[in-house]
Amino acid sequence: VEGGAHLQILVVGGGGREHAVVWKLSKSPRVDKIYCAPGNAGTSLLAENVSITATDVSGIVSFAKEKQLDLVVVTPDDPLALGLVDALMEEGIRAFGPTKTAAQIEWSKAFSKEFMKRNRIPTADYAVFTDPQRAVSHLTTCSFPIVIKADGLALGKGVFIATHLEEAVHAVHEMMLAKRFGNSGSSIVIEAFLTGKEVSVLAFTDGKSLVPMVSSQDHKRAWDGDLGPNTGGMGAISPSPYYTKEIADTCHSKIFMPTIQAMEKEGRPFKGVLYFGLILTEDGPKVLEYNARFGDPETQAILPLLETDLLDVLEAVIDEKLSLLDIHFKKKASVCVVMASGGYPNAYEVGYPILLEPDLLRDDGIFHSGTAIKEGVLKTQGGRVLAVTALGETLQEAAREAYSKVLKVHFENAYFRRDIGAQTD
Ligand code: GLY
Repeated sequence: VEGGAHLQILVVGGGGREHAVVWKLSKSPRVDKIYCAPGNAGTSLLAENVSITATDVSGIVSFAKEKQLDLVVVTPDDPLALGLVDALMEEGIRAFGPTKTAAQIEWSKAFSKEFMKRNRIPTADYAVFTDPQRAVSHLTTCSFPIVIKADGLALGKGVFIATHLEEAVHAVHEMMLAKRFGNSGSSIVIEAFLTGKEVSVLAFTDGKSLVPMVSSQDHKRAWDGDLGPNTGGMGAISPSPYYTKEIADTCHSKIFMPTIQAMEKEGRPFKGVLYFGLILTEDGPKVLEYNARFGDPETQAILPLLETDLLDVLEAVIDEKLSLLDIHFKKKASVCVVMASGGYPNAYEVGYPILLEPDLLRDDGIFHSGTAIKEGVLKTQGGRVLAVTALGETLQEAAREAYSKVLKVHFENAYFRRDIGAQTD
């Protein structure tokens, strides 16, 4: 039926990013029903959660076939690396996300560094090692600080910045010998440490054209002032105050288009969301890393700014018609504060009831990550519990509004950074 709400969609994943994607898709007049696998308490308000894990490729394919779904949106890194999009396409099911070979730009850091080098895409100098002894003897020739990365996926935690040799050797041992990240650390990348402001640019691409979303900035460290251990992300702002029009133009011509053109030329056209983790150095913008998907928590900051129907965008990507679509973002600022369980990213307790004050119950900016409904009560269920987003005319206004909402969300041992959106320089 043309026109009416008739599409049935499955969103794969269960984090705050997936809640934001489900929320945005639920606003599309063409969407009839959304499923989320496995989802969380937040997605259950807008979609039907199905208890299939995101990495259960055959389970997801069977479900999509059985329900004759019109579209499956694959957002987490693991199922992309397992080839879920390929498996869906083989069965004739429309899927949003890159193929396994295209997603290698994220799931192998060694591949992505070599890809950048051979295609002259600006990035830090590096070397790849599969032998720990060689890695250690290379380190003795390096200047510090230096960056050591596990080749494979590691929940965003596979990057070490070592300030001296001993620390670097320890990181190599942890990854390659103690197998802290399993097989993901069998190969490692050792690369030069770059200084500058970090900016994330997520872009929609159909393999030929590319439309950047508004820029954003993640906050990876656990504590205020970018101190403490790395986390999955404690908050995000959008746009980045450092990403000027001039820098954006340079990125477009020197990084974004060369990347998708080279992926196409190398026989792995990239269709989906391509995430450019950038650093603005004195020598110009460089790529720190690529992700083959929406970022978390950047997505919870960015999607509330997207004015265009997300379904239209996802379909234009799949149908390679992105150049025909006008994609608009609100000219506002967005701040997203992650509320975590006390102790995260180390050990933490779950199962605490979550209380939202009444004026938040209909708020569009409360994105759940680690939540579940147990015996009818909303409870904490993970390290990162909720992401609270607010918009404003300025970054300061958005931050003020986001924190005023944070203070109306209550659960025991809640922990959040107090400086998201407080960029001063
Ligand atoms: N926020 C970084 C990521 O999604 O990997």
